[in-house]
Amino acid sequence: MRSSHLAVAIVAVLSGLGVGRASAQDTVKIGVVIPMTGTSAAVGREIEAGTKLYMAQHGDTVAGKKIQLIIRDDASVPDNAKRLAQELIVNDHVSFLGAGLTPSAMSMAPLSAQGKVATVVMVSGTSVVTERSPYYVRTSFTLGQQSGIIADWAIKNGSKKAVAILSDWAPGAEAGKVFAQHFAQAGGQVLETLKVPLANPDFAPFLQRAADLHPDTLFVFVPAGQAGPFARQFAERGLDKSGIKLVGPGDIVDDDDLPGTGDTLLGVVTAGIYSAAHPSALNKQYVDAYQKMTGHRANFISVGGYDGMHLIYAALEKTGGKTDADAVVAAMKGMAWESPRGPISIDPRTRDIVQNVYIRKVQTVSGAPWAVEFETFPNVKDPLKEASPK
Ligand code: PHB
Repeated sequence: MRSSHLAVAIVAVLSGLGVGRASAQDTVKIGVVIPMTGTSAAVGREIEAGTKLYMAQHGDTVAGKKIQLIIRDDASVPDNAKRLAQELIVNDHVSFLGAGLTPSAMSMAPLSAQGKVATVVMVSGTSVVTERSPYYVRTSFTLGQQSGIIADWAIKNGSKKAVAILSDWAPGAEAGKVFAQHFAQAGGQVLETLKVPLANPDFAPFLQRAADLHPDTLFVFVPAGQAGPFARQFAERGLDKSGIKLVGPGDIVDDDDLPGTGDTLLGVVTAGIYSAAHPSALNKQYVDAYQKMTGHRANFISVGGYDGMHLIYAALEKTGGKTDADAVVAAMKGMAWESPRGPISIDPRTRDIVQNVYIRKVQTVSGAPWAVEFETFPNVKDPLKEASPK
């Protein structure tokens, strides 16, 4: 009996010292706060798949540390995101956070800033988000990055009068603002801007109003997960046959929804950061592996998660496994690598992503609609940060 008591005591002491199984010091925890339920659940599913696929391909050990991914469901509610981030920092002792949708990323920012936790912004497309914490680094995109380029393209291809239909929240406002600036500057006219509620949108009355204004071009931003319902209502109103050109950032031809849209979006031209049809060896491998793992086509949200994990892995390699937020963020600044979307890097000044923006046209390839790239704008920065440098 005495010896077994001794053994228990020794085990207790050793585990207290961090000896034995993978100890707290040998494990790096990454807490990702995303919507796994509710109206934006598709976004959470895609980020979870992207992060897990990266780990499946690259293993769960970096610089001698065991990587542990923790996914928390905020159901798109910013107060939940804040509470979950706090619990991840205080109870789980995460070394990294992953942030999702704009409102949640905004509410988590003070915790990242004050708690000094390096945070990868994997979904949000709103410019200002990365300015809310010095430890925020983005692997997603901004709406401005895409919306100015598509405005210029539309004007060059004959557009003169546009109506904008925008999902009514921060990324929609930015998409509309940058589109309108470029469109007006190039001599076009935005006849009207229509704002559609974010949750459970009914596009029909807005599409009717847009049609009544007789524009030659419709600029539309809806977030990931709403391209399918939008396309259905667009076709129900006969707008796919009206001769009005539909353009937008990549979100309206989201690859997660595109296979289910039939002929509705054929010919639609967008400026986007990722297409599953991107013709690179790395992307073909990514799309195949993603399809095998999830049964879905990889989309622009998923690469934000996949590349977010790469950024964390590469930073840990560079710091030799140190997770101190200042060291990690310094390591991330200026980092450049090949993503399934093409070459990307982290702007050392803004901690925002620099990436190619592609002009793509929806075409039928092997019996299904795909956004086929035909022009590339290389190394595009967030235009709103370039306009007002801080
Ligand atoms: C965002 O959270 O800013 C966001 C989410 C989904 C999108 C675009 C922007 O498709």
